[in-house]
Amino acid sequence: MKEPRNLIVQVKHFGGPEGLEVVDAPLPTAGRGEVRVRVLASGLEYTDVLIRRHLYPQTMRHRPPFVMGYDVVGEIDQLGDGVTGFDLGDRVADMTVIGSNAAYCTLRADRLTRVPPGLDPAEVATLILSWTTAYQLLHRAARVQQGERVLVQGAAGAVGQALLVLGRLAGLQLWGTARGAHAPVIRELGATPIDYQREDFTHVLPGGFDVVFDGIAEDGYRRSFAALKHGGLLCAYGYSAGVQAQRRMLTMLMWIARLYLWRWFSGGRRALFYSINVMRARHPAWFREDLQRLFELLATGAVRPRVAERISFDEVAEAHRRLEAGGLQGKLVLCPDLKPQG
Ligand SMILES: NC(=O)c1ccc[n+]([C@@H]2O[C@H](COP(=O)([O-])OP(=O)(O)OC[C@H]3O[C@@H](n4cnc5c(N)ncnc54)[C@H](OP(=O)(O)O)[C@@H]3O)[C@@H](O)[C@H]2O)c1
Repeated sequence: MKEPRNLIVQVKHFGGPEGLEVVDAPLPTAGRGEVRVRVLASGLEYTDVLIRRHLYPQTMRHRPPFVMGYDVVGEIDQLGDGVTGFDLGDRVADMTVIGSNAAYCTLRADRLTRVPPGLDPAEVATLILSWTTAYQLLHRAARVQQGERVLVQGAAGAVGQALLVLGRLAGLQLWGTARGAHAPVIRELGATPIDYQREDFTHVLPGGFDVVFDGIAEDGYRRSFAALKHGGLLCAYGYSAGVQAQRRMLTMLMWIARLYLWRWFSGGRRALFYSINVMRARHPAWFREDLQRLFELLATGAVRPRVAERISFDEVAEAHRRLEAGGLQGKLVLCPDLKPQG
């Protein structure tokens, strides 16, 4: 029988989406303590744009060529030596940061989370980076309490939508900034929309918000911090606006460092920067626990993540262009089984 071939999405040089290529590659072999999976779904995220542009601290040491792919849902098709507790055919998930935009990839068995049967792999993929980030921002970083007044910046985005859905389940009062055209989605998700192109969110709630979540960093988080009430908390977690404005990595790292200085001169307001990788390194059990909790919420129908589109390998570069252009209302997911268009 013919060996299945591997296909990978590779960065051949840092920069724009033209630096990506889809190439044939040898099938990887599971090493000791690893499994090989046939990839069923792998997310495409704004964070991939940062990695591709060489603006992502965790992947700074990688040099092209390397394979893109932050998260993965797959079916085990090979077990390496020393792997116990998993069988061929088991469905598993992991957050790989790079390496999973492929038809097959190898994963460390001790980092896997089991995927319950019957779930849609594309919907599961949306939960790994975007929804786990949202869940941990709410429950691990901010430790929100029912009834708190919370502002979500970039609320129509992948993490933003998850923050609204999970925030509503936690009984929060929610506001979300988004472009005007996305107001109906924000309302549908239970929040009050704020049009970031026309309205000033610092004037929406005169007393200030209990918590602001900001993955955008418009003006280096200044106005998000100003929108807090006395004793309020800013949870910063991204800097999309800095990337769009082609700011240097050092500038964005300085915005993050400044958050920790503001605490001292702010009359009781606080700020922190959340990173899913730092939290996973410190608390690996939390990552698996929180992802399993999200799988349960998906299985019971309590949450329904929005998949904007399932795409095939030949649409990946275009998907990166769409991520950078903005305007998406949900997540793009690479599904290797999809046949190329046309
Ligand atoms: N620290 C972590 O662990 C972690 C984890 C996940 C993600 N992130 C980061 O978090 C950020 C968001 O990720 P994502 O996956 O949710 O990205 P996304 O899907 O691209 O969503 C970002 C959203 O922000 C909106 N936006 C752009 N400029 C805005 C502004 N000035 N005010 C309000 N909204 C604005 C965009 O809307 P338009 O359609 O109007 O452009 C888009 O809906 C990225 O920078 C990502 O790298 C960090």
